[in-house]
Amino acid sequence: MKKIIVLMTMAIVAMAFSISAIASVESLRGSSALNTDANKAMKHKVEVTQGGVKRNFKKQPPVVPHATEKYKVTLKNNGCLKCHSEKAYKKEKAPKIGDSHYVGRDGKVLKTMSSRRYFCSQCHVTQVKADELVENTYSSQ
Ligand code: HEC
Ligand code: HEC
Repeated sequence: MKKIIVLMTMAIVAMAFSISAIASVESLRGSSALNTDANKAMKHKVEVTQGGVKRNFKKQPPVVPHATEKYKVTLKNNGCLKCHSEKAYKKEKAPKIGDSHYVGRDGKVLKTMSSRRYFCSQCHVTQVKADELVENTYSSQ
């Protein structure tokens, strides 16, 4: 009996500890309950950079120097390729998708873009002027 009481007290203490730990963690959506609306997302203006943004290292996917919210990528339609594909880039005066986009997963160069590169925003992102969410000491030097 004594053993059971000791074990139960230990369990209650452990539970109290984990509850207080959860209460002190706050995610980006704030401390609102899961079934209520999240905090309003911060709105920032997209930065447009004529001529593109300098890359920090050779194989970096260049960041997108224009707004992209109007261009959708779905199973049937890729809004980005309307300007960046082989067929369209000259007419649209846009840079053509990079050479690496034609390399398949086995390392062979394909005639058409590899499906691995279909979801452009997986690697290419627009930029906004905003404070860093966490301190960043990255340096390319
Ligand atoms: C209406 C045509 C158009 C569409 C649609 C478009 N872009 Fe662009 N994009 C451009 C042009 C033009 C530039 C060159 C801008 C400049 O250098 O000033 C560019 C530049 C870029 C660059 C920079 C390339 C480099 O070498 O610096 C990236 C990355 C890019 N776009 C990605 C995307 C993605 C991802 C999408 C879809 C979400 C997209 N673009 C949709 C016209 C377009
Ligand atoms: C898996 C990551 C990845 C995906 C997905 C991807 N890219 Fe890229 N992209 C890169 C990298 C890395 C580079 C730089 C190397 C190169 O030029 O191939 C690049 C380069 C580019 C460039 C610049 C090419 C140049 O010659 O300067 C453009 C434009 C571009 N990508 C557009 C797109 C578009 C449009 C899509 C979607 C159809 C896309 N990318 C999907 C990683 C990606």
